[in-house]
Amino acid sequence: MMPVRRDLRFALPAERACDWHQQGSHVTHFFNALSLLFPAGERFFMDSVRNYRDSIDDPVLKKQVLGFIGQEAMHTREHIEYNDLLQSAGLPAHKLDRRLTWFLNQHRKMPKSFQLAMTVALEHYTAMLAGLLLEDDTRIAGSVPGYLQMWTWHALEETEHKAVSFDVWNAALKPGPLRYLLRTGTMLAVTLVFWMIVFDFHVRLLIADRKRGGHVRGMWRVIKYLYGPRHGVFPGIAMEWLRFFKPGFHPWDHDNRAQLARIDSLVAAVHLANAADPAALKTSQTSRRGVRAAA
Ligand SMILES: [Fe+2]
Ligand SMILES: [Fe+2]
Repeated sequence: MMPVRRDLRFALPAERACDWHQQGSHVTHFFNALSLLFPAGERFFMDSVRNYRDSIDDPVLKKQVLGFIGQEAMHTREHIEYNDLLQSAGLPAHKLDRRLTWFLNQHRKMPKSFQLAMTVALEHYTAMLAGLLLEDDTRIAGSVPGYLQMWTWHALEETEHKAVSFDVWNAALKPGPLRYLLRTGTMLAVTLVFWMIVFDFHVRLLIADRKRGGHVRGMWRVIKYLYGPRHGVFPGIAMEWLRFFKPGFHPWDHDNRAQLARIDSLVAAVHLANAADPAALKTSQTSRRGVRAAA
């Protein structure tokens, strides 16, 4: 699978930044909390893979690494702009981003193999969450189109490059029990810290947006969204998470490449929407620039 860098822009209506998900603002803020992780997180991913670029001999993997970096760079750019919308809506987006950047920078002092193990674990998380979004229409369908397109694009590209950091890991580190223990031990630590941060960011966004109201129904929806036995996020990823601990695990063991057939039509739909309403794209970009200038 060769990741392709796609330079896309999305029309994100600023006034819907806190309420774009079909299931309301509380579920929206779960996604917004994830969005706040991406700029700092994906920069960390790119750098931890870059650390090993020179030790890769396989020309195909070398190209896949370039594609991976190209895709994550685009995701970072778009999520910075998305997060600026949250900031302009009165949410503490920049503060939380700075906090996460500081936290991840501490990990850059750790051994490079540990940094890559973190990336491998977190890329498994993005692949699991992306898979959920793509494989079950109930999870995002009916949401505001620009946001829906952006999350679908991100989910498709996360699927497309889900094995790249893992293949770098296998190519660069000596096989054996130590490599297995580092990979799985890091996954356990990452799981704890990742969900603590998502929970913390989610709660902070909900508190910052508390004037919106509807909390009883909203909290019920978000609990169902995360824990519901049929469509919940946690039950949905449980098996995939466990598979990571198999000694011979590979991300493509879960073969969902059929989802990628949607990419071309999505790209065409984004171009069509932007051409049909260039003002919407321009408005959302102007308001994002305004926030950055004021920050
Ligand atoms: Fe990404
Ligand atoms: Fe990724």
